[in-house]
Amino acid sequence: MNKAEFLQQTLAGRRIRPQHDTASAFAPVNIALAKYWGKRQVAGNLPTNDSLSITLPEHGTQTTIEPAKFDQVYLNDKLQGDDAVFHQRLFGFLDAIDNSRPPLSIRTTNNIATAAGLASSASGFAALIACLNQLCHWQLSDHEWSILARIGSGSACRSIANGFVRWHRGQRPDGLDSHAQALAHRMTQLGIGLMTLTKQAKPIGSTLGMQQTAQTCPLFSAWPDFANASADRIQQAIENNDLTALMSESEHNAMTMHATMIATRPSVLYWQPESVAVMHQVWQARAEGLAVYFTMDAGPNIKLLFNLADQAQVVERFANIEIIRPFA
Ligand code: PMV
Repeated sequence: MNKAEFLQQTLAGRRIRPQHDTASAFAPVNIALAKYWGKRQVAGNLPTNDSLSITLPEHGTQTTIEPAKFDQVYLNDKLQGDDAVFHQRLFGFLDAIDNSRPPLSIRTTNNIATAAGLASSASGFAALIACLNQLCHWQLSDHEWSILARIGSGSACRSIANGFVRWHRGQRPDGLDSHAQALAHRMTQLGIGLMTLTKQAKPIGSTLGMQQTAQTCPLFSAWPDFANASADRIQQAIENNDLTALMSESEHNAMTMHATMIATRPSVLYWQPESVAVMHQVWQARAEGLAVYFTMDAGPNIKLLFNLADQAQVVERFANIEIIRPFA
């Protein structure tokens, strides 16, 4: 199946036929605690493993769509020319949904660094689908919304709810069982520290990175079983309200994913010297008794995980962090 077939199967006859003059929606970014890395099918973004994330409720993408005379898109208030990658990717996706759609004018604004491993494509696709749902009265279920966002960018399927969200990898070749679901448990003591160490774009996109890892990394065969068991351990820690277990397993999960990336040929290394320096700082802090952990995605930036009761000590030790309280 190709992307258009995956999309149209989920849409079951729904087309892009605007019912309003304008529609607007926000979707949040999510940070994976149990990572998604590896696709069993590329066009549908069907993953080799389950993943589990925490949503940053106030960080994400606001998108507005209006019917127009020609296609145009503003990204962070900047018009993207017809030949810009962003323009082509976005309207290519809309054509795959409906190749007889009317032209659209789209404004999309991220309040988080684009392409720096802070997953703005996830909130972007989730917001886009939410917007189309309103504009065209599609009346999507969360299940359908999650699947459509997944076809845009895998991890976008988790940007459909606040709190902890698990993406079930599914088994079916058509991907109709590969969607995310919010978990009921909350962990109000969880703090996240966003460290934007550099706003540099990532050296290689996640799709290509995953493909190269799957094809050349000798460690990758061990990843799916590890990743599924690790997602289970993280969910168990959430259900037990065991923050230390959650943070410790999340750091281990991230480092195991990065180990597979590093052992790829050519090596996929998203770390910058600043990233490694912060890792050492985190381990030093733990050696001195402060329960702080980290996670990292396909980019150089680090996200700290800690108990909000320790916020003052974390802020004192780590410069330039933005504190997020996901359950505030
Ligand atoms: O959804 P993508 O293609 O941006 O891939 C995301 C991959 C990671 O961020 C590294 C892990 C994850 O689960 O979000």
